[in-house]
Amino acid sequence: MKPTMANTRLRRPVPETGDLLATLMEKVVGQSSALEAIVPYVHMYQAGLAPEGRPVGVFLLLGPTGTGKTHTVEALAGAIHSSERHLLRIDCGEFQMEHEVAKLIGAPPGYLGHRETSPLLTQQKLNAATSERSNLSIVLFDEIEKAAPSLNRLLLGVLDKAVLRLGDNTVVNFERSLIFLTSNLGARGMSREMRPDFGFDAMVDRGRPNLHRKLENIALQAVRKRFSPEFVNRIDVISTYQPLSREALARILEQQLDDFRLHVQNRLGQRAFAVELSGAARQFLLRKGASPEYGARELKRTLLRHLIQPIAGLVARGLLDAGGCAYADSEDDGEHLEVRCLPPADTLAA
Ligand SMILES: Nc1ncnc2c1ncn2[C@@H]1O[C@H](COP(=O)(O)OP(=O)(O)OP(=O)(O)O)[C@@H](O)[C@H]1O
Ligand SMILES: [Mg+2]
Repeated sequence: MKPTMANTRLRRPVPETGDLLATLMEKVVGQSSALEAIVPYVHMYQAGLAPEGRPVGVFLLLGPTGTGKTHTVEALAGAIHSSERHLLRIDCGEFQMEHEVAKLIGAPPGYLGHRETSPLLTQQKLNAATSERSNLSIVLFDEIEKAAPSLNRLLLGVLDKAVLRLGDNTVVNFERSLIFLTSNLGARGMSREMRPDFGFDAMVDRGRPNLHRKLENIALQAVRKRFSPEFVNRIDVISTYQPLSREALARILEQQLDDFRLHVQNRLGQRAFAVELSGAARQFLLRKGASPEYGARELKRTLLRHLIQPIAGLVARGLLDAGGCAYADSEDDGEHLEVRCLPPADTLAA
């Protein structure tokens, strides 16, 4: 790192992000080692101590589906810029063909179609991912394994020198960026290792103390097969997300229920009501929406279909009184969630 007193970044006040690690841990459940590896890079930037001539940090997030890789990047954007959408996101699935990758940087002047192919990755777009609170841009290349190989070549310059040269020969500077790559590489081998047919408890909660190490090895092998050594060498942190334990999934459910309650309060104001669930109802939602194979990916959809939509139906029919309670219950191992209204007076008795 170059010791320079004239570091212009030092002149900016350090933005108030509170205890960033604690904020992220609350949002992203059960992935503390990934978060602990990411946060020091943000601190380094905020302190004005990030090295020059390269991105602030380059992270490759690996691991099974639905375990919080993309969610981590969104949560970080939420913590730094106050909005989870405040990031520059490239869905690599949209760049599977070489000519699609070319759209990222645009065609050189004089080429046929030059005018129509204004680049997708411009300095302006990168700057738009900053905010009043921080001039650090978060860039997400989601599901990197889906992109055509030429994207890796483009990225090499970005990861190494923080520079992307566009078709019209202008450059985009990534020195004030955190770059996240997420990938499912090795996922098939991981799910074989996790062996869902053995059941949840056997897989994650008990008896597999070295499962994480094994998944990490599978992921790293797949990465080395797919990316060149010089590409891998330019990544600061490679983190393999862990399969979510039963306890982590239960915490994620509570988190999503709290989000919904907050939404009810904010949206309905005076007409708001409480939302309560029995233990069996919680088990129902976890059984339907969470699995070792798909992590927490289906949880939101399950909540929507089995809890939020029935509640909306009650509201629409005028059956849920302001100050009342929507109470969800289910038979043990039942196939349905029953949502009924408790009048205000009965709410506490629920
Ligand atoms: N660790 C977690 N903590 C809190 N919520 C989570 C976690 N993992 C997943 N979720 C929930 O599940 C949804 C899907 O997770 P996410 O998009 O982060 O999966 P992913 O790991 O990126 O999977 P994929 O490899 O399929 O893209 C999130 O939007 C979030 O609601
Ligand atoms: Mg993802």
